Amino acid sequence: MRISIGCDHIVTEVKDHFVKYLAESGHEVIDNGTHDKERTHYPIYGKKTAEKVVLGAADLGIVICGTGVGISVSANKVQGARAALVRDVEAARYAKENLHANIIAMGGRITGIGLMEDIVDAFIKTKYKATPEEEEVIKKIDRLICNEEQLNNDHYFDEFIDKWEQGAYQD
Ligand code: RB5
Repeated sequence: MRISIGCDHIVTEVKDHFVKYLAESGHEVIDNGTHDKERTHYPIYGKKTAEKVVLGAADLGIVICGTGVGISVSANKVQGARAALVRDVEAARYAKENLHANIIAMGGRITGIGLMEDIVDAFIKTKYKATPEEEEVIKKIDRLICNEEQLNNDHYFDEFIDKWEQGAYQD
């Protein structure tokens, strides 16, 4: 399977763990970064990771930040993304099987690495069970956001990056 993955600087080592874990399991991994611990912004990587999925370069996405909240909210702003923030295996299964989630989000400072592996495995293995009702709902959800300014625009967050570089933000 082709899997798009991204994280912020808080959990780079967790994302790197999954890049290796997925590659060793035979998946093709698109690593959208971030690649080091330098302070950055989670929406950049939520957006990049989700876009690979909705534009068809990847089959599924995985997004990770400290809590999983910021990056899942950001990924969900990409039209066609259905990112589920989960902390347990059952929710991951449900998200895929019933809600056709195409991205799983986790908090790398919240959930242990072993449980995250189980969540990812369950999400990948579980098949979506389409029903006519669910298909209708998903079509509606996918039409909710349409913003051509942001789609596939890697410079959408440049203003924030400039501010980081100028020292405008404190962690
Ligand atoms: C750091 O930017 C932190 O806010 C982020 O990793 C995440 O926990 C947000 O939900």
